[in-house]
Amino acid sequence: MQNVQWFPGHMAKAIREIEEKIKLVDIILELIDARIPLSSFNPVIKDKLKNKPRLVIMNKSDMSDEAINIEWKNYFANNNIPCIFVNSKSGENIKKISVMCKDILKEKLDKEKAKGLKPRSIRTMVLGIPNVGKSTLINKLAGKSVANTGNTPGVTKAQQWIRINKDLDLLDTPGVLWPKFEDLKVGYNLALTGAIKDNVIRRDDMILYFLDFLRNSSYSSFFEERYEVSLTDDNLTVLENIAKNKVFYKGEFVDYERIYDLILNDFRNLKLGHITLERPSGEI
Ligand code: G4P
Repeated sequence: MQNVQWFPGHMAKAIREIEEKIKLVDIILELIDARIPLSSFNPVIKDKLKNKPRLVIMNKSDMSDEAINIEWKNYFANNNIPCIFVNSKSGENIKKISVMCKDILKEKLDKEKAKGLKPRSIRTMVLGIPNVGKSTLINKLAGKSVANTGNTPGVTKAQQWIRINKDLDLLDTPGVLWPKFEDLKVGYNLALTGAIKDNVIRRDDMILYFLDFLRNSSYSSFFEERYEVSLTDDNLTVLENIAKNKVFYKGEFVDYERIYDLILNDFRNLKLGHITLERPSGEI
C-alpha cells in the first residue's frame, strides 16, 4: 500500500461530523456493499454508534453473488442484526426500509405512547463509505433527486429533513465514512469495487490479488472462458496470455495497464459474473 498519511485526518473529521448527526436520529441506515460486506463496514463507527439502533442495508445486491447473499442473510439473522438486501438503483426492496425501521423502534415508540407523548415520525440517516450508493438510496427513498452525489467529508451545511412518508424523516445529507484500510486486502477490495480510487493502491498488486482470489473461487471459469486463459497457470503467464489474445502490447512489451483496465471494467460491469469478494466470518 502506498502513502496512507491522508487517512487519519479525513477519518477523524468524518467521524466528528457523523457523531453530531447521530445525535439527531433514532436509527441509522448503515449502507454496506453486498460484494464486500466486511471491507465496506467501518469498525470505528461501531463505538460511535453506541446503543443507537441500526438497520444494515446490503446495497448493490444485484451485483453480488446470490448464493453468498443468502449466507450473509443467515449470518445477520443468527446475530440478531436487522438487515435488508436492496438495489438502490432499481428501487428493489426500498419500500420495506421504513416498515423495518418502525418495527425495530416499536418498543421505544410504544413506551413514548404509554407515557402520553404524541405519536411522531422516526428520524433516520444514511451512513456508508464513498460510492456505496448513499445518494442513490436517499434519492430513491425520497422519490426525487435530493441528495448531493459526490458528498465529501468536511463539507458542512445546514441539516435538512426529507419526509419519506408519515412514519419516516430522513436527513438529506448522508454520513460519509472514510473506509478503514490498514489491511491490504481491504484496500484491494475497496479499489476493485471502486470505493477508493485505484491510484491509492498498487494496481498490479490489486490485480494479482484478484487473480489469486478467482483461482480459489467458484468464479474461475467465467474468467477463463472470457479471456481464453487457464488459472492453473501462474499469474504472470495468465497476464501474458491475455496480452497475447487481446494483442495488448506497447511496442514489444506487454501493456499491463490496459489488461488491468479490462479486468477491472469487466468485474465492475458483471462480465465476470456476480462476484462477492467476502463471505461471513468474524464479527461485523
Ligand atoms: P455515494 O453517494 O455513496 O457516494 O454513492 P452514489 O449514490 O453516488 O452511487 C455510486 C454508484 O453506485 C452510482 O453509479 C450508482 O448508480 C451506483 N449504485 C448505487 N446503488 C446501486 C445498486 O444498488 N445497484 C447498482 N447496480 N448500482 C448502484 P455510477 O456509475 O457512479 O453512476 P451511474 O452509472 O448511475 O450513472
